[in-house]
Amino acid sequence: MDFTLSEEQLMIRDAARDFARNELLPGVVERDEKQLFPAEQVRHMGALGFLGMMVSPDYGGSGLDTVSYALAMEEISKTDASASVVMSVNNSLVCWGLEKFGTEAQKKKYLTRLATGEIIGAFCLSEPEAGSDATSQKTTAIEQGDHYLLNGTKNWITNGGTASVYLVIAQTHPEKKHHGINAFIVEKGMEGFEIGPKENKLGIRGSDTHSLIFNDVKVPKENRIGEDGFGFSFAMKTLAGGRIGIASQALGIASGAYELALKYAKQRKAFGTEICNHQAIAFKLADMHTRIEAARHLVLKAAWDKDQGNNYDLSGAMAKLYASQTAMDVTIEAVQIHGGNGYVKEYHVERLMRDAKITQIYEGTSEIQKIVISRGILAG
Ligand code: CAA
Ligand code: FAD
Repeated sequence: MDFTLSEEQLMIRDAARDFARNELLPGVVERDEKQLFPAEQVRHMGALGFLGMMVSPDYGGSGLDTVSYALAMEEISKTDASASVVMSVNNSLVCWGLEKFGTEAQKKKYLTRLATGEIIGAFCLSEPEAGSDATSQKTTAIEQGDHYLLNGTKNWITNGGTASVYLVIAQTHPEKKHHGINAFIVEKGMEGFEIGPKENKLGIRGSDTHSLIFNDVKVPKENRIGEDGFGFSFAMKTLAGGRIGIASQALGIASGAYELALKYAKQRKAFGTEICNHQAIAFKLADMHTRIEAARHLVLKAAWDKDQGNNYDLSGAMAKLYASQTAMDVTIEAVQIHGGNGYVKEYHVERLMRDAKITQIYEGTSEIQKIVISRGILAG
């Protein structure tokens, strides 16, 4: 067993760390407060290769492994989880699915621009009546000549307003249930495609979340991904990898809050000594550090599984379940260690605490991860 990261992996981690400190930290509080999308920063992330990290250089990507991606996600999420969710969706939900299952023509037309960050993508599965219960898709895509007619509403779509390309899951043959579902590439600006108002959220407020409305949108047949009826399997396979990205995001939120709390505890004095000298605070730091290390091992193991060609459905779900709970618990303790200062925006930990919550909800809630894990255990 070898826990050593390669030179290349360390270099990627350090580059992401520098980028986060130099370009994401300034303005992060204001972007959160005013719900401003980090457009300039996302453009730069594209130029640095962070938006198509695992895509082959043949399609404009960085050709890196999943471990490098997880390390970069952790570093960026320490500072700005709104920027890292853009990165996670573009890398693991959009580029990965297109590279793995798209046709050569689809890859040339869309993937090359998505991987460089020239445009960004969105992944559209959730609906008002189909969140956790994802097989209950009500959006329909009915075959008509050389196109599909798309009708319905998608909810909570990350990059909803800023994306140019949307991977949309829809029901083509309702009688076949989840075997009748397809995935389509839909472009912004197609007639009948409307973007709903931006959601006003608790956390990741810089990210851009919208509902999408499809009203008789004509989607060319060549925009279907995979064989007829492959859409639900496409969504599940894509989400299995996406969960490693969100687990890394949760890990980053936790470790960002921990680093701030450690620094603060060594400086802040109460009762004539630095607060870290009070055992109650020192033990909190010990618990936080231990939980983060455990989460990091689960995250990197899941990423490694994916790189090795092992099944990562379970390891990804376990990493997300554990890292997201760790993010929640650690950020609450980080606020506590900061006392009153923890409750105001300039100390950053209150934002990290608000950002942590979403990692227990999107890409499958914690309850859904337990369903995936328990079914996997029982089947094995
Ligand atoms: N890979 C391939 N196929 C899979 C799979 C996987 N990992 N997991 C399930 N499937 C297949 C099953 O094999 C089954 O197909 P067959 O009948 O051919 O065998 C089919 O999917 C349906 O599976 P189940 O019978 O297990 O379906 P279910 O209704 O009981 O529940 C579920 C499945 C795991 C709960 C699933 O609905 C699920 O993951 N729900 C959560 C949805 C989710 O994660 N949404 C995230 C939206 S994207 C997002 O959130 C992005 C963001 O925020 C940034
Ligand atoms: P529900 O499914 O209604 O669940 C409500 C509660 O019931 C949860 O606690 C859930 O765990 C629990 N529950 C449901 N079923 C079970 C069960 N069988 N057993 C035990 N408990 C259960 N979706 C996309 O497709 N693309 C995106 O880009 C995207 N981005 C998002 C960004 C944000 C900020 C948010 C808030 C959501 C986003 N989502 C996105 C949607 C997200 O994936 C869903 O919100 C999530 O899957 C939960 O679905 P739901 O909200 O309908 O909750």
